[in-house]
Order: sequence, then C-alpha cells, then structure tokens
Amino acid sequence: MSQVSELTEDFLPSDSTTPLLSVEGLSVTFPTDDGDVRAVRNVSFELNPGDVLGIVGESGSGKSVSSMAIMGLLPGSARIDGSIKYRGNELVGRSYKQMQPFRSKHISMIFQDPMTSLNPVYTVGWQLAEAYRAHHDVSKKAAWAKAVEALELVGIPQPDKRAAQFPHEFSGGMRQRVVIAMAIINDPSVIIADEPTTALDVTVQAQILDTMLRIQQETDAAIVMITHDLGVVAGMVNRVQVMYGGTVVESGPVDEVFETPRMPYTVGLLGSVPNPSTLGKRLTPIKGAPPSLVNLPSGCSFTPRCPLAADVCHESEPVLGEAGLPNHLTRCHRWEHLASLQNPQKLFITDEIGVVENPASLVVANPDEVSVVADVVRVEGDLS
Ligand SMILES: Nc1ncnc2c1ncn2[C@@H]1O[C@H](COP(=O)(O)OP(=O)(O)OP(=O)(O)O)[C@@H](O)[C@H]1O
Ligand code: SF4
Ligand SMILES: [Mg+2]
Repeated sequence: MSQVSELTEDFLPSDSTTPLLSVEGLSVTFPTDDGDVRAVRNVSFELNPGDVLGIVGESGSGKSVSSMAIMGLLPGSARIDGSIKYRGNELVGRSYKQMQPFRSKHISMIFQDPMTSLNPVYTVGWQLAEAYRAHHDVSKKAAWAKAVEALELVGIPQPDKRAAQFPHEFSGGMRQRVVIAMAIINDPSVIIADEPTTALDVTVQAQILDTMLRIQQETDAAIVMITHDLGVVAGMVNRVQVMYGGTVVESGPVDEVFETPRMPYTVGLLGSVPNPSTLGKRLTPIKGAPPSLVNLPSGCSFTPRCPLAADVCHESEPVLGEAGLPNHLTRCHRWEHLASLQNPQKLFITDEIGVVENPASLVVANPDEVSVVADVVRVEGDLS
C-alpha cells in the first residue's frame, strides 16, 4: 500500500513540532505547444497555527498556481515537483479524489469571484449545510443550524432569514461573506484567500478583511492572503513573501520587508502600487514586463528590469538566502549594495524625467554608482 493511501482523514500531526503546512521546493510546470511553462519554481514556506502570511507579486508570478497546487486543484497536465506536507503528511501525488476529505475540512480556499464557489440555483443555507454534511455525519436540521451560525459569524444580519435566500439576492460584499462562511464552516486549520476583496469597493473591502481577521483570531486558523494590494498586506499579515517569475524573491516580517526591502523588485513594487509607503507620493511603475515563463532569462529573472543588475546577475540565479536580518530572506546577489543605498526608491525614478529610456543599461555599465545614476538622470532632465 502506498504511503499516500495510508493517510487517515484526520491528518494527525506526527508530533507537536511539525509545522501545520510545509511547502518545500515546490515547482509546477505546464507542458504546452510553445514549450514548458514554468509557472512555479522552487517555492518553500511554512505555516503554523495563527500565522497570517501575505503573498504579493505582479500578475502571472505564480501566486494562484502555488495555492491551487496546495489544494490539489491543478489540471492533470500539470507536473508538480517538491513537497507539500500538511501536518507532516505528504499531499503531492494524491489524486483529486484522495484530496477530497482534506479540502475544506483542513485547508479551504476563498476565490476572488464569489460565484466560483456558490451555485446560483441553491439557497446559500442549503449550500453551506451540504458543505458541512460532506464532512460531518449530522442531520439536515443540524447542518442548517450550523449554516445559520456560520452566516452569523461572518456578520450577515438576520442569518436565519438570509440562509433561505439565493446568491443573487445578496450584494457583492454580502456574497463574499457567504463565501467566507463556506470556507470556515468545517473549521479548517488553513484558509487560503486568493484576492478575496479585489472585486469589492474600498469600504466593503475593509469590512471583509476585518471579518477575516476576527475569524482568524477566534479560530486560530492560519491564513494565506494573496493580494495585489500592499495596503491589505501591511494592515493584516505578519509575514510577507514576494513572488516574481514563479519564485519567491523576498520574504520576512511584513514591517521589515516594507521598511528595509532587500530585493530591488520589492523596492520597485512598493513604489509602483498604492500602499502606506507611497501615500502622498507619485507612483513609479517598474519598466518592462515580467519574464516569459517558457524562456526565463539566464541568471536572475529580474535582470532585464533591474537597475542594479551586474554581470553576476546574468551569470547565475541567486539562491534565497539571509539578508542580514533575522527571518528575512532575499534572492539577490546585490542585497548588501541595495541595503547601503540611502534612498533605494530613486532606483526606479525615471519616468518624470524621460531622458534615460533604459536606466538598467546605464547601471549595468557602472553597477556601483547606482545612487549617483539617479542624480545624473535628474540633472540631464533639468537641462532639457
Ligand atoms: N493550465 C495552465 N496552462 C498553462 N499555463 C498556465 C496554466 N495555469 C496558469 N498558467 C500560467 O502560470 C503562470 C502563473 O499564473 P498564476 O495564475 O499563478 O499567476 P498569479 O500570480 O496568480 O497572477 P494574478 O495576479 O493575475 O492572479 C501564468 O503565466 C499563467 O499563464
Ligand atoms: S541586483 Fe541582480 S540579483 Fe539582485 S535583483 Fe537585480 S538582477 Fe537580480
Ligand atoms: Mg492569481
């Protein structure tokens, strides 16, 4: 009998020091007519009860594919390497069916679009009750009571009345609350939220995030929050991991990563999207496009866009290693140089001047003078 089929539905921990979720060297490749799409490469992280981990990165950086791999929801064509252990039990290699007892009961997922998780033709109470009955041997009446309780927990007023309504009778924000109720009804230990508030307006977003945090505190579940919104990350998570080109390029305590980023991509990301550090400042996009996942650049995949790129960056891909601060990791050959700059944000400021089209090429020519390059560019701009 294989190790996989011996697992019990309870996924009991091997011992108390085993992490809740441990992802090690996870890679996902999609074979296509154009070649292998290397969507996720060598991603590792651990989660323990109560952790709130943020995953950020541009579109296509592998955030959703990583979480779908954890949930066992990738198409059969995907090649998965590495290890995903839940309480010490290996999940890679389990079939869709073998993952069934584990999904929702142990790890659940909240998607961006509530209609992905809700069926328009059944009442929300029925759907919640069925989700509960899939993992618990209880009467329909008891499951309905549990559904009403879950709706109340996520802050839906008059939950007994609302349980009898259909998804289309709920506003966008209320529907997303229903989806959260669905995600927590089986009391999972890990909740993965993939852009849970992107489709909602700002006020509703704040309410939903508050609800998630309250539930996290009440249940001690670990949360993985995937988002483009660095403001959400700053206000909600303890640890953040930044993804680029399918891999983790920086990770650490959220305040530290935001205040002292050790990877140029993180610096660029922080300056290019609204977040607490850009309040009142002009946003500066990172020039260029994310790498092709079929033909990754040699060396560091950020090289073509990086104002700090030097020869070594083209020659070898950096490993994710320590960045001089506890629990803070970076995948950058030149993090020490970055750390020595007084104003790293200047690296990406080129737009408002419009003289230098490709600051990266300037910097490659003289990699040790980056902070000066920004000033030179400014002088040229003033002269024009
Ligand atoms: N089934 C598939 N076949 C081929 N390529 C795929 C497949 N699913 C995803 N990809 C590719 O994998 C890469 C990573 O996609 P992923 O959905 O994880 O990005 P993301 O970081 O979640 O982006 P976004 O912020 O837009 O949601 C993308 O280039 C995507 O096109
Ligand atoms: S300095 Fe080099 S290794 Fe670091 S991000 Fe830039 S290109 Fe990559
Ligand atoms: Mg995604």
